[in-house]
Amino acid sequence: MSGDADIILRTEAVGKRFGGFTALKDITVEFRRGAITSIIGPNGAGKSTYFNLLSGAFPPSSGRVIFEGRDVTGTPQHRFAHMGIAKSFQITNVFPQLTTHENIRVAAQALQTCFDMWRPRSAMRQLSDAADALLVLVGLGDHRDRIAGTLAHGEQRALEIGMALASRPRLLLLDEPTAGMSPEETRTMMDLIVKLASERTVILVEHKMKLVMGISDRLLVLHHGELLAEGTPDEIRGNELVKRVYLGKREH
Ligand SMILES: Nc1ncnc2c1ncn2[C@@H]1O[C@H](COP(=O)(O)OP(=O)(O)OP(=O)(O)O)[C@@H](O)[C@H]1O
Ligand SMILES: [Mg+2]
Repeated sequence: MSGDADIILRTEAVGKRFGGFTALKDITVEFRRGAITSIIGPNGAGKSTYFNLLSGAFPPSSGRVIFEGRDVTGTPQHRFAHMGIAKSFQITNVFPQLTTHENIRVAAQALQTCFDMWRPRSAMRQLSDAADALLVLVGLGDHRDRIAGTLAHGEQRALEIGMALASRPRLLLLDEPTAGMSPEETRTMMDLIVKLASERTVILVEHKMKLVMGISDRLLVLHHGELLAEGTPDEIRGNELVKRVYLGKREH
């Protein structure tokens, strides 16, 4: 139902074509507020394309995206952070020459409509304290003054999430946050995601199904650009179509 407070985000028959190729077809889904919803599916299923539609990176070729009851289809990307949606990408996106603390401050400052050179000191102090709190939240409290480019891969991904959180989003979108991570880094990231989800809605893209089974409230399965299945982890685990798609495909 439109405007339902339990539904933070909806897509209505969204589709995406790239030239003559249909990457995504007629996806109608409601995302519940406060839940972790994972979008899974094999390589090339359309997950990142769907993620890009949800995060406003590009508009759908058809259909509508509704955030908190408002039609946001075609809203420019830079408006999304102000609306309460933040994301981190499949590839790492930090400023490698800046410290971790500076990275988060830059992210926070980028959100201010105009940067006032004469901001009172107290406001600057607030910004700095908020950045410190975010570093602690994402597990980088001990690395405040490290140059971001020298952090381990898993730490850089955590920093990127800290940067996304600087806009205080109600909805956090993550595209393969564990891509390229060691098993230990992956576990740390999964713990972080669960922690973050206690205070905000999380939508997660992942092609390793097993990884998200344990932490997700709901799962969407995409395959060849279509919504193959939707449900709780138990429902998805028992779904014959899903089994067939993943059968014989070694997860890596
Ligand atoms: N900009 C683009 N131009 C043309 N084709 C594209 C574009 N982006 C994606 N595609 C195609 O759309 C399909 C879905 O791609 P997408 O990146 O959404 O898959 P994915 O599920 O995220 O895969 P992965 O698990 O590898 O990240 C693929 O066949 C891809 O080649
Ligand atoms: Mg992808």
